Amino acid sequence: MAKPQVFVSRNIPQAGLALLRAHCEVSVWPHDRPPTTQELIDNARGKDALVCLLTERIDAAVLAALPSLKIVANVAVGYDNVDLTAATQAGVVVTNTPGVLDDTTADLAFALILATARRVVEADALTRSGRWTGWGIMQLLGHDVHHATLGIIGFGRIGRGVARRARGFEMTVLYHDALRAPEDVERSLEARYVTLDELLRQSDFISLHVPLLPQTHHLIDAAALGKMKRTAIVVNTSRGPVIDEAALVAALKEGTIAGAGLDVYEHEPRLAPGLAALPNTVLLPHIGSASIATRSKMAEMAAQNVVTFFAGGVPPNALNPDVLGRVRR
Ligand code: GLV
Repeated sequence: MAKPQVFVSRNIPQAGLALLRAHCEVSVWPHDRPPTTQELIDNARGKDALVCLLTERIDAAVLAALPSLKIVANVAVGYDNVDLTAATQAGVVVTNTPGVLDDTTADLAFALILATARRVVEADALTRSGRWTGWGIMQLLGHDVHHATLGIIGFGRIGRGVARRARGFEMTVLYHDALRAPEDVERSLEARYVTLDELLRQSDFISLHVPLLPQTHHLIDAAALGKMKRTAIVVNTSRGPVIDEAALVAALKEGTIAGAGLDVYEHEPRLAPGLAALPNTVLLPHIGSASIATRSKMAEMAAQNVVTFFAGGVPPNALNPDVLGRVRR
């Protein structure tokens, strides 16, 4: 039987490519930049599977242009870049990579909390600049993280990982989620469920861990920012459009809140006008899951979904498993 044909939209970690190559005919997009939509279509034409990244938009038009496609394996836990409804209608299985990146992303959220509160990036720049004149009692004063109140919005695996880390800093942990966590989880993490309004008003740090959905788009808008403490710091390692970035820039400029630590942006890789110039921000280029070990696990997981599918099994991370009965193998 001919091997399944797979297009991989970037040079992903070796663990994933090796697994794919053991079972499939694999072609890999050779550039560091993402393919344009047309380039993606041209390269994936006639293929059975697409392994893609969150930078690729897989919508109804792309799926219609690739009628031979049977499975899309997204190398990310968030899959807002894939139109799942259109894929389900087209009979295409979609998979993601949940679970393997939770601790790595929670680590980065905490890095942003600490770096923004303690002005680590500004301090580093001063030390290197040659303008540092020595220890100063009024120099680079920041905000304490220990014993502060942390508000976690989105209490899934990553949000809970952040709560677990917060215990070491003896923080008071509040959370809000569409679904309240079971009592034993709340108890073990010492996290208190509150309304969104309460969370916004009471937290010193607000960390976002919701998926991007119509209900979470601009969840943090001018009104939400207006409810926060003037000393509050917002951290986002989820998806950029959860924050109205223009409203955030205005709030940071006007002193409505004290700072922001961001790993994701509304229109990546572009930043909202004025954001890059603000000293009270720490801005990272979407590296939440970017550890060597985790990216390798993500690539392997995506590959495993493809390989399992072509072996006739149920891909372990299928997001629309109902489609399996009617896809072409
Ligand atoms: C990264 O942002 C992911 O969703 O995996």
